[in-house]
Amino acid sequence: MPYTHALVRPPASNFADGLTSSDEGAPDIALALEQHRAYCQAIEECGLEITDLPADPLHPDGTFVEDTAIVMAHGAIALRPGAPSRVGEVDSVVAALRRHFPDIAQIFVPGTVDGGDVCEADGHFLIGLSSRTNELGARQLARLLGDLQCTSSIVDIRGSETLLHLKSGLAYLGNGCMAVTAEFARDPALSRYEKIPVRAEERYAANCIRVNDRVLVAAGYPKFIDMLVARRFNIVPLEMSEFRKMDGGLSCLSLRF
Ligand code: GLY
Repeated sequence: MPYTHALVRPPASNFADGLTSSDEGAPDIALALEQHRAYCQAIEECGLEITDLPADPLHPDGTFVEDTAIVMAHGAIALRPGAPSRVGEVDSVVAALRRHFPDIAQIFVPGTVDGGDVCEADGHFLIGLSSRTNELGARQLARLLGDLQCTSSIVDIRGSETLLHLKSGLAYLGNGCMAVTAEFARDPALSRYEKIPVRAEERYAANCIRVNDRVLVAAGYPKFIDMLVARRFNIVPLEMSEFRKMDGGLSCLSLRF
């Protein structure tokens, strides 16, 4: 079923105060806003109607709306981000989602789940256990997904020193294809997928998104882009430098349904 809607939130003026492990310096807010506008335009060109929430200076990571909810055509689940500074991001997103989903289930204390740890692949959900998503949260989410007639499996990334989220290292691109960094090359939970390997020096590019008939991919990663082109994906490269500085990627910037 094609996506018809996306929910986004532009970065606030204090975006640089958000969480990050990057040593690339502070983001330029004017450039971040320009990159966010280009991202929204690309999403609209994929045929989606955008709901644009106001910037939220109380939550400098609030532009990464993906971490606050799981949304699909027939239901939504409010999450509970694992970073304490991000828990307050959820309410305004859920309020906006109620326009489409009157009943929204939720993850309860002490469970935590970041949406960046959840990858949907044709109705099956991979749930990453990470420094942000704990076992209780993952179990609650699996149960709530089951209530929505979806299957799920767990992928443990807690041993990785480089992956913040599951989707920092993989993306489902449809037709059974999964872009993966080396961590996932032999993961049994992913054995059913055809893998598109992402080289170590291009690992940021693994966070790409299939939006209807296009794949939005971070610009500046030519080997990965060549592989997508060779597989006849219709790609849209987007500049993401300012979001990369804050540990954010293409998937983080929207909820798509
Ligand atoms: N800056 C995104 C996050 O750490 O959650």
